[in-house]
Amino acid sequence: MHKAESRTVSPAKGLHGEIVVPGDKSISHRAIMFASLAQGESRIRGLLRGEDCLSTLAAFKSLGIDVVEKADDELIIHGRGLEGLQEPTDVVDCGNSGTTMRLMSGILAAQPFFSVLTGDQYLRKRPMGRVINPLAGMGAKILGRDDNTKAPFAIDGGGLHPTEYHSPIASAQVKSALLLAGMQIEGTTTVYEPHLSRDHSERMLRSFGADLESFSGGVRVTGRVNLQGCDVEVPGDISSAAYFLVAGLIVPDSELLLKNVGVNPTRSGIIDILQQMGGSIELTNQRELSGEPVADLLVKSSHLHGIDIGGSLIPRAIDEFPVVSVAAAYATGVTTIRDAKELRVKETDRIAAMCETLGTLGADIEPREDGMQIVGGKALSGGRVNSFGDHRIAMSMAIAALASVTEIEIKDTACTETSFPGFWNLLTLISKDA
Ligand code: S3P
Repeated sequence: MHKAESRTVSPAKGLHGEIVVPGDKSISHRAIMFASLAQGESRIRGLLRGEDCLSTLAAFKSLGIDVVEKADDELIIHGRGLEGLQEPTDVVDCGNSGTTMRLMSGILAAQPFFSVLTGDQYLRKRPMGRVINPLAGMGAKILGRDDNTKAPFAIDGGGLHPTEYHSPIASAQVKSALLLAGMQIEGTTTVYEPHLSRDHSERMLRSFGADLESFSGGVRVTGRVNLQGCDVEVPGDISSAAYFLVAGLIVPDSELLLKNVGVNPTRSGIIDILQQMGGSIELTNQRELSGEPVADLLVKSSHLHGIDIGGSLIPRAIDEFPVVSVAAAYATGVTTIRDAKELRVKETDRIAAMCETLGTLGADIEPREDGMQIVGGKALSGGRVNSFGDHRIAMSMAIAALASVTEIEIKDTACTETSFPGFWNLLTLISKDA
């Protein structure tokens, strides 16, 4: 449990400097998981040591995986193969991490032992039927709270058969859970999704040797192919870079260089959105790191204008809408976000949370069932806002404060440790008090 800290952020004059954001959260989780299921040694560099990924690491240690910590962001994992995991002797605590819980349910559903997954007060409220139901359709025996829709839930693993699943939502967690279950059993499992969600699992599983085929509209995996340990270099997290992209755009006289940021097209929606709003963001030094596209991003203060955001752009920027709504509040004109109902079931209801927090500061923002509408351009006053225990709300409000009229106090900020240790130090480093 976090201690509920609070922080006060003052308006800034101009932001300057080079920033290296911590490793990508989604890729870090997957590196730990796939290395554990592989045979032999894997070295992971650039790992995010946020609380979410530490939950995944602790979970795999509790399944018998031997981990050697080489440096703060470097690990060696001694994988035990598809049949090497051991029954955990206690409940597996996934903390605040939806990725840990949903991907692990796919892994554990195929393992011939009993396990129980739980999480913190926020994770226990989030929908788990979206993985429990399709896994049950593969023959999984899972029993959970609230009519099998919430954690804690118990898995009596094994006895699965392949499936063809048409997911009603574009969710990489659902897709990955089914691929991870399918990967461990005979036959071919196919997952279709309405829009392409982040494809880190597909990319990384292929480099570990899995038999996986992506096609338009979905992906299939053929199971029982042994994974081989390999080295993974984790790029910087574009979802963490997003805060500094928006900061660099909305604070006048700013220029920031964000080094080594993952720009996988299934994640780079935030760059498209901000560029469409008139933001100056330049990609340089484009290259590939462990099968993932990476670039340095140069951002300069810009006059932003409102836009309409919906459709396939939503899953490509799904975690960035709190900070997009901050950019929209400082833009001229109207921004509309639609097709984004998923925002209601993140770490908190992010539509309600952003409407309340930005509304408190004087922004013209209204919720919609599947998004929100923001009429930008009104000066944001200072004030006191809540993070709702959600790391992305806390960091978005800190960015809002950099361009507000007076300082903003944000309650309950320790949650930023979930995905971005060092966030507050970086913010201080690049800001100058007005
Ligand atoms: C994630 C997928 C997304 C995202 C989450 C991380 C992942 O969730 O919001 O922060 O690592 O697969 P959904 O799959 O629920 O869209």
